[in-house]
Amino acid sequence: MDIITIIKKELKRLEESNTCKHETPLQSPQGGVVKVKGKDVVMLASNNYLGLSDHPAIKKAAIEGIKKYGYGIASVRFICGTQDIHLQLENKISKFVGTEDTILFSSCFAANEGFFASLTNEKLGFENYKDVLYSDKLNHASIIDGQRLCKSETTDKKIYNHADMTELERLLEEDKNKDYRFKMIVTDGVFSMEGNLAPLDKIVELGKKYNTLVFVDDSHAIGVSGKTGRGTPEAKGVFGKIDVLTGTLGKAMGGAAGGYISGKKELITYLRQKSRPYTFSNSLPPAIIYGAMAAFDLLTKDHSIVQHLHDNTKYFRKEIKALGFTILEGDHPIVPIMLGEASVAQDMSAALLKAGVYIKGLWFPVVPKGEARLRTQISAALTKKDIDHALDAFEKVGKRMKVI
Ligand SMILES: Cc1ncc(COP(=O)(O)O)c(C=O)c1O
Repeated sequence: MDIITIIKKELKRLEESNTCKHETPLQSPQGGVVKVKGKDVVMLASNNYLGLSDHPAIKKAAIEGIKKYGYGIASVRFICGTQDIHLQLENKISKFVGTEDTILFSSCFAANEGFFASLTNEKLGFENYKDVLYSDKLNHASIIDGQRLCKSETTDKKIYNHADMTELERLLEEDKNKDYRFKMIVTDGVFSMEGNLAPLDKIVELGKKYNTLVFVDDSHAIGVSGKTGRGTPEAKGVFGKIDVLTGTLGKAMGGAAGGYISGKKELITYLRQKSRPYTFSNSLPPAIIYGAMAAFDLLTKDHSIVQHLHDNTKYFRKEIKALGFTILEGDHPIVPIMLGEASVAQDMSAALLKAGVYIKGLWFPVVPKGEARLRTQISAALTKKDIDHALDAFEKVGKRMKVI
């Protein structure tokens, strides 16, 4: 059988099992309100938490980046792809997240993929060694893939139940007297399906107690969580205490593309030598560098946009509950509305689009069976009128479908 015949069969199976991912094209920039099939709809499904995707200051900066530094640099960083602005952005990120140094990647996926194996697969002067990774069960796919690149002969991979600090401590205690070379606790800062924050205060405490490095992917928290948007460490009172932070520039911080790893100077210098997605992939283009720099500048000068996001989130969480919907509690702009059956989430997402609200349903295998949900993502780009319009649609559709 040829490959296309096999793929056709698989596509049919995906379609029948309702796990086929259908794309709904937008005919406008990303924002609080977007255009779909010629109609304006309230956007409740994007990672554009701060509304910077179409922000005048960010667009102006990106255009200036192109004017001053060109469209692309046509090289990897170490050949001729480093412009002074790459170093400036790395510096701005380090200052913002409270670390010594930062290395940029084309995405956070690439950053996470380029971290673990660059350390664990290298002898670094050790003839016989073993490293160990303790990873939260719900960590992002890019962390899972990054860890898959670690050779099993030299890396033990241990998964702990989601945010279960008792289990994490049990694993650390069990391994206390083993002669591991590197030990790392690995977690998302904010979990994208649940909208909850990792218990970083406890994780930092355990990292210290068991002499274990703490790695946090703060993609859904940079610019979002904490009073000034400095992420989960700020929200959990451990700012400046995380050994390795990764994050994306493709969500709150402008929403275009790009990722980073931040940490101790020596570690970042080492990654510039050994992290393959950095060494062997093109540099970020000037428009993105300038746009991202403008985003960090905006937040450094003024927290009102973060405050506005937090106010919007609080309002939506309160009102959607008042309508009778069941949500996962928390304070993050990811607000999962729990519906149970996949078919309910599918039908409700379609009905809401018709009623002028863009929201996506998640169901098995993305979330456990029976825990299908609509994942709301609140943005600072939304006005109170937009949110009220969405709430009104939720009420009408919810009642019609007998969900509330
Ligand atoms: C926790 C987490 N890490 C990494 C990524 C990947 O980020 P990027 O889009 O920059 O590759 C995502 C994106 O969905 C994410 O949610």
